[in-house]
Amino acid sequence: MNRTVILKICSLLLVMTICLTVTACKNKGGSNTVSGSSSRGASSTDSQSTDSSGSESTDSQNPDSESPDTVVSRTSSESSGGGTITVTETKNVPYDASKNPLQRGVNFSNFEYDDIEIGYDNWIFQSKYYDAVREKGFDHIRLPVNFFCHMGGAPDYKIDEEFLRKIDTIINIAISSNLKIVLDFHHFGELQTNVSGNKQKYYKMWQQLAEHYQSYPSGLVFELFNEPGNADAISKGGPDIVTPEKLIEIQEEAIKIIRKTNPTRLIVHATCWNDGAAQLMTTEPLLPNDDNLIMSVHSYEPMAFTHQGADWNNTGNPRPSTDFTEDMKYEIQLIFEMVKNYHEKYGRPVWIGEFGTLKSKAPEGARAKYADFIVETMKDAGCGWCWWEFQSGFGLYNTSRDEWVDDALMAALMK
Ligand code: BGC
Repeated sequence: MNRTVILKICSLLLVMTICLTVTACKNKGGSNTVSGSSSRGASSTDSQSTDSSGSESTDSQNPDSESPDTVVSRTSSESSGGGTITVTETKNVPYDASKNPLQRGVNFSNFEYDDIEIGYDNWIFQSKYYDAVREKGFDHIRLPVNFFCHMGGAPDYKIDEEFLRKIDTIINIAISSNLKIVLDFHHFGELQTNVSGNKQKYYKMWQQLAEHYQSYPSGLVFELFNEPGNADAISKGGPDIVTPEKLIEIQEEAIKIIRKTNPTRLIVHATCWNDGAAQLMTTEPLLPNDDNLIMSVHSYEPMAFTHQGADWNNTGNPRPSTDFTEDMKYEIQLIFEMVKNYHEKYGRPVWIGEFGTLKSKAPEGARAKYADFIVETMKDAGCGWCWWEFQSGFGLYNTSRDEWVDDALMAALMK
């Protein structure tokens, strides 16, 4: 047997095992940690000065188009311990990678932390960085934002106006720099561990954002929930921890709310457990006739490589420095076999909203080797992607010197 055949068999076995495990966990009504990365966290600070600009409306997607490629019909629903499992039947249709306008992106992190006040003197308000990103060949950025800590109380849960103005400013800069921008709700807090106690707040958040941005161009994309079921977030425990079934329910409801004012805006939704690829086949495609939805997956495999030097791994010791080796490729290939299966089954694009590797301990040239391999693998699977992140621990750019930090890495990403 050649390597491709062995790979396919292994990936099939892996997917079957995962499906069985997830089903078992669902039946027990419990949670699981099937895939994805272990506990993670980082911080970033850097500062410079302010800029902003306007935006225009050029929405071009078609609200009513029902592509035959993506039509998936539901056949039945059955109850199980933790909720309702919907059985779906699909047309096996060829996947069209060009449906995803998010091809090459980079995360502009900063606004995801609830304990850091980001002022207008931060680098993120400077248009020159957006221009640099565009000129390098990226077509989008992703902006992780934790809105929950900038909202008032029930019943209105009003988003703080001054905070929203900051987000407007960033979106406007990105759009006038000719970049698409994914507004990502990045939240490792209470919604993860108390869904029923916080879902009204979540819906109100999306209602306000949808109304506020309804006239913005189609280059503004909404991402519903970063890494639901994140191991670190749910390890704190809580009365109503997010599960795949609850995630489907709240994401579907959020999409319906957004669609009232934004009938065609591109929306990214997630799988449970850290946007893990292993959940792709058990998280049914939401609202199958909506042609403007994209599935998000994060890929930090292999963690030993991408998180080398990280001390947020629950062992107290930073992961050791390591090169990117041949035997690491296999773990990445398995992830993208699952992605390909999803593409073949549902026709909905998978976008890799986070992948990347820490820089401080990586041997010279190692990050470029990793990028070279994973970018090729993502291309082969028909995925757009978004590197984590622009200028901090996993960064590509040095904002103090105003230069890209690794030419070989950039060449590998942009090839
Ligand atoms: C987290 C960051 C972390 C990154 C890589 C992101 O989702 O928000 O804090 O550095 O993943 O682990």
